[in-house]
Amino acid sequence: MMKKILEYMTEVLSAAFVQCGYEEKYGKVGISNRPDLCEYQCNGAMAAAKVYKKAPFVIADEVVEVLKDHSLFEEIVSVKPGFINIRICGGFLKDYLQKMAADPKFGCQMEQNPRTIIVDYGGANVAKPLHVGHLRSAVIGESIKRTKRFFGNRVIGDVHLGDWGLQMGLIIEELHDRQPDLVYFDEQYQGEYPKEPPITISEMEEIYPAASERSKKDAAFAERAHKATFRLQNGDPAYLALWRHIMTVSKADLKRNYDNLNVAFDLWKGESDAQPYILDMIEDLVERKVAYESQGAIVVDVALETDSKEIPPCLIRKSDGASLYATSDLATMVERERLYQPDEYIYMTDKRQELYFTQVFRTAKKAGIVKEDTVMNFIGFGTVNGKDGKPFKTREGGVMRLENLISEINEAVCQKMEENAKKKETSLGKEEVEKTVPIVGLSALKYGDLSNQASKDYIFDVDKFTSFEGNTGPYILYTIVRIKSILSKYEERGGKVEEAVMLCDPSGESEKSLMLTVSRFSDAIETAYRELAPYKICQYIYDLSNDLNHFYHETKIIDEERKEKQKGWIALLKLVKQLLECGIDLLGFSAPDKM
Ligand code: ARG
Repeated sequence: MMKKILEYMTEVLSAAFVQCGYEEKYGKVGISNRPDLCEYQCNGAMAAAKVYKKAPFVIADEVVEVLKDHSLFEEIVSVKPGFINIRICGGFLKDYLQKMAADPKFGCQMEQNPRTIIVDYGGANVAKPLHVGHLRSAVIGESIKRTKRFFGNRVIGDVHLGDWGLQMGLIIEELHDRQPDLVYFDEQYQGEYPKEPPITISEMEEIYPAASERSKKDAAFAERAHKATFRLQNGDPAYLALWRHIMTVSKADLKRNYDNLNVAFDLWKGESDAQPYILDMIEDLVERKVAYESQGAIVVDVALETDSKEIPPCLIRKSDGASLYATSDLATMVERERLYQPDEYIYMTDKRQELYFTQVFRTAKKAGIVKEDTVMNFIGFGTVNGKDGKPFKTREGGVMRLENLISEINEAVCQKMEENAKKKETSLGKEEVEKTVPIVGLSALKYGDLSNQASKDYIFDVDKFTSFEGNTGPYILYTIVRIKSILSKYEERGGKVEEAVMLCDPSGESEKSLMLTVSRFSDAIETAYRELAPYKICQYIYDLSNDLNHFYHETKIIDEERKEKQKGWIALLKLVKQLLECGIDLLGFSAPDKM
């Protein structure tokens, strides 16, 4: 376990306060909010002054007098009215980074009691197109899953498909009209059902929207679709066989889409998997009087006296006997408890489902479906808007499909890379550009999303997201690629990157600021982990990239004559590269070798 720099400093300052006759707690040190004046600061003398009825600068002076020759500091001064400003000793900073470099987790403290965590994200609906909302769930969920895993937990990501709803009835009935001769519609048929699906993915992509449109105008058709859904849900063998085909075709397509997003689920379960648990669960809840009948429906009261707004009861069965979204989410928990005994659940959906999840979580606790101390997390994300501030649409005004979104981003990236190639800023051939575009595009898409606080709406701005400068994914990749290119130049000139392991004391301002930022890695990542906040990873790697580039512009690394110094810089660059790569891996994308 690696102690953090702030912990070292706080210990030393606290001891000095005690030595001067003050309470230990005043020794707390923080990162300076005036980096122009100092690197760290302690404001304890200000607070102590009130208690000990002395002028703050008197206290600060006393403490600084004790510490002025301490090896941890390059400079420690008291400034009026009573602040203690600190600069860290370069040698200490170097040693700290050296320890980071030797640790596979770069100083992050692993979870002491690893937990089993279910991450429920993605949430695509089978046979319906993926849209921008599903993108957010997949992108944020993937990052949170990776971060939880990084700290040593057992994490299970489940896509939790919407695979048991009305869309199935709609497709079945539309298919019935288009291909009435299929055996699935022959009431007399007794044999086995064919192994080959009767439709392809492109047919399905067309058939669902058509059926959905039709049901809006054609009430009789809508009724048929409802009946077909009901028949399927009650286990009709022909419809189940059709459903399996729809699942096979659609899942293959979804997998391809999620692969392109670098999103990987451990489980491909869905609402349908919860169905076997529903009857027993409801019966049990009614028997134990957790649930009761109200106007023919079955509900669970979940309101608390402490609620500031009204939380309506959770409906778990409709008066017509149909189960609902909540029923299947609760039954899914029953299954997850049986199979995995999670200590924590994390759900990722549009924030409009927040009230719903409050109801479901409270029901689960009240009913004892999950344990009293199981952590139930809901991450509600905001809307993706266009530049006009309204929900993102296609040029024609339809819902934006994920694939179109990706191609729009990739086109923009491709254009930028070709421009750079013309300006001879890169040496990439046509083929390499083709290979690199999707990698850079994905960074633009994901970073554009993840750099915002999840709960906030954001504007999907293709130009901004794909820019190679500023707070963007491509900028981070560009920084990594820059380091890679320095490392290979170093090798070309006979250096051995592998042998560059010993860092040097910082010799300039930009080098020291870079090292200070490097030293904050574990703080940043641990905060993102604790707060389920990938945007904090983005903030950190953006700072780190800026510092790296600043250092790069101020330093002639490759032409440096002092070989030991140069080797130290190479070691530093290697470490920065590893930290950036670790950061983007937690965000769910990777860097190319060139761009
Ligand atoms: N399929 C749902 C939708 O498209 C999202 C599922 C979220 N997960 C859950 N366990 N309810 O809105």
